[in-house]
Amino acid sequence: MSPLGASTMLLLLLLLLFGQSLSAPRSFSVDYQGDCFRKDGEKFRYISGSIHYSRIPRAYWKDRLLKMYMAGLNAIQTYIPWNFHEESPGRYNFSGDRDVGHFLQLAQDIGLLVILRPGPYICAEWDMGGLPAWLLNKQKIVLRSSDPDYIAAVDKWMGKLLPMIKPYLYQNGGPIITVQVENEYGSYFACDYNYLRHLTKLFRSHLGEEVVLFTTDGAGLNYLKCGSIQDLYATVDFGPGGNVTAAFEAQRHAEPHGPLVNSEYYAGWLDNWGTHHSVVSSAAVAKSLNEILAMGANVNLYMFIGGTNFGYWNGANEPYSSQPTSYDYDAPLTEAGDLTDKYFAIREVIKMYRKIPEGPIPPTTPKYAYGAVGMKKLQTISDALEKLSFSGPVKSMYPQTFTELNQAFGYVLYRTTLPVTCSTPTPLSSPLNGVHDRAYVSVDGVAVGILERYKAITVNVTGKAGSQVDILVENMGRINYGSGINDFKGLVSNMTLGRDTLTGWTMYSLSIDEAVSRGLLGEKERKPTAPPQPAALSLPAFYGGSFIIPNGIPDLPQDTYIKLPKWRKGQVWINGFNLGRYWPARGPQVTLFVPANILSTAAPNNVTVLELEEAPCSSGPCTVEFTNTPILNATVTSHYKQHRRLFAKDDLL
Ligand SMILES: *[C@@H]1O[C@H](CO)[C@@H](O)[C@H](O)[C@H]1NC(C)=O
Ligand SMILES: *[C@@H]1O[C@H](CO)[C@@H](O)[C@H](O)[C@H]1NC(C)=O
Ligand SMILES: *[C@@H]1O[C@H](CO)[C@@H](O)[C@H](O)[C@H]1NC(C)=O
Ligand SMILES: *[C@@H]1O[C@H](CO)[C@@H](O)[C@H](O)[C@H]1NC(C)=O
Ligand SMILES: *[C@@H]1O[C@H](CO)[C@@H](O)[C@H](O)[C@H]1NC(C)=O
Ligand SMILES: *[C@@H]1O[C@H](CO)[C@@H](O)[C@H](O)[C@H]1NC(C)=O
Repeated sequence: MSPLGASTMLLLLLLLLFGQSLSAPRSFSVDYQGDCFRKDGEKFRYISGSIHYSRIPRAYWKDRLLKMYMAGLNAIQTYIPWNFHEESPGRYNFSGDRDVGHFLQLAQDIGLLVILRPGPYICAEWDMGGLPAWLLNKQKIVLRSSDPDYIAAVDKWMGKLLPMIKPYLYQNGGPIITVQVENEYGSYFACDYNYLRHLTKLFRSHLGEEVVLFTTDGAGLNYLKCGSIQDLYATVDFGPGGNVTAAFEAQRHAEPHGPLVNSEYYAGWLDNWGTHHSVVSSAAVAKSLNEILAMGANVNLYMFIGGTNFGYWNGANEPYSSQPTSYDYDAPLTEAGDLTDKYFAIREVIKMYRKIPEGPIPPTTPKYAYGAVGMKKLQTISDALEKLSFSGPVKSMYPQTFTELNQAFGYVLYRTTLPVTCSTPTPLSSPLNGVHDRAYVSVDGVAVGILERYKAITVNVTGKAGSQVDILVENMGRINYGSGINDFKGLVSNMTLGRDTLTGWTMYSLSIDEAVSRGLLGEKERKPTAPPQPAALSLPAFYGGSFIIPNGIPDLPQDTYIKLPKWRKGQVWINGFNLGRYWPARGPQVTLFVPANILSTAAPNNVTVLELEEAPCSSGPCTVEFTNTPILNATVTSHYKQHRRLFAKDDLL
């Protein structure tokens, strides 16, 4: 053996011993010959679960991720909602509960890979599918298409976001193995391949050539037709109970080779106000999951934990039907992160296919019933107008939309006067169904009725010419799916009184969240002559109360649920944190999740309620209640049913 040969041998030996761990680059790719993914050259399959950081307080991210890891998952999937990070053009927020970098780092530290879905459109039962409402400043914008105004905004946003994401790619040492482009684009009417091609180039230019980019569509050729293009790996989504083989055949039409992937395997389903709470049986979820895994397919369970639409973040379906505050989804971990039978059923299935981690599973967090809290009436919206409308009113002949008034979420008060005396009940109407989405109407300080998109377009009014008409309009969440996502809010068409168009509007954009957190809504000095209200309805008003968490009890504060018995509809804050909407009168959600991290033991906890219809306080003291048991399934009269997407034979036609 020549000296050269000996040193070469030594080098080879060293390489064999250490080389792989020292210098083999991290890689993640699609293996078309092997019909699988490859991670660092090895055959790889993911078993993933969806978790949306935007629906979980940062303080609980680690707890939820650990529970997912302990279930046997090796990956998580998350969306990035654009409107959560860029609430107004060019003003970005990536801190606190919006610190997606921290979330990605936690996932990696725990041992979970990440499948990232940065949109720009995400659907997700999230306001406007994650698109910022300010895109509607261009009135005629065609969202999710090559429309230059839309593309310019997308380019700018992705130019900010994707460079932040790049260091978290697997090949750069991070947890992200694949990145989705758009979301279920094949279900959208536009079918604009130039748009998908543009996004592909954009993602590649920021993230590089190596990253695996993919699309997700319903498991049917009609979806895949407009949803998939070359250079983006096509995956499908479908729920339990159907024919798994046939569903993957749809993916095989688009991708004859490569890994089988179900990107959204529905472990539960969403709710809408006024429908029954959706439940999907653990047995059905376990059975189809077993079939998917037995085929060697990759799977992501949607949702593994749903979480909460805090504040105003819920979306809505068409015909208009908004989603409630809870996004529990009947997922294996509840809204509050609790372990369920479904969690353990799924874990048992995963166990048959991969070694699952040993050790204790983080327990369900304890819940505390703090009990009843007395509430006092503070002020009506119109009493508090000066404190709520920082920018002052805007006047115009005809009503303007939220967008024109530069307000994204919440409530706007539209005020005008009766142009003529209405001595008999006269219809005040929105003939073009332009109340988006619900309005609380009063005349001269007396509540007279409620208007609701698609449900009630007329209320009768009486009063003298010159009487003040107040219409408080609530944005109940923008449509997040389908062709109606350009969902303008407020009074989006003219109101009529009898046959005349109402004119001369004064509009107040309300900054309620700011007023609540700055403690501006004190108790009003009593005016002796509040006009008597008809029993069924009262003026939209704020109520306040507080409770002290006893410090003699260890481990407080703990999570809890707030319940508003006999209250009708509104919004609730604790210590200035907007918990979301309550509407027990419609259901199915009755309690709202209150995470412990917003509670204090150092000072009284302040509860603020905006009741829009009628508080139970007119006949004496009234309360809200803190309980340790959630109620998400109260019986309702079903107005509207959204069907769970099962794979159907004709999807293949
Ligand atoms: C950014 O978002 C966090 C979390 O919601 C919030 O606490 C913070 O106030 C926001 N920052 C700005 C500047 O709006
Ligand atoms: C499921 O679909 C496959 C492929 O289309 C078919 O061969 C099989 O018979 C179906 N199974 C059932 C139970 O219908
Ligand atoms: C308004 O009043 C008219 C006449 O009294 C009545 O027929 C109609 O049903 C009322 N409409 C509403 C929405 O209450
Ligand atoms: C209201 O009616 C006027 C007069 O017909 C019209 O010019 C205006 O565009 C309408 N406004 C809306 C929001 O429909
Ligand atoms: C509740 O409000 C009171 C009075 O404004 C304030 O002193 C207290 O700090 C608030 N509590 C919390 C937890 O912020
Ligand atoms: C709601 O769910 C609970 C817990 O699963 C169950 O005990 C109760 O019967 C359900 N109520 C309704 C109205 O379905």
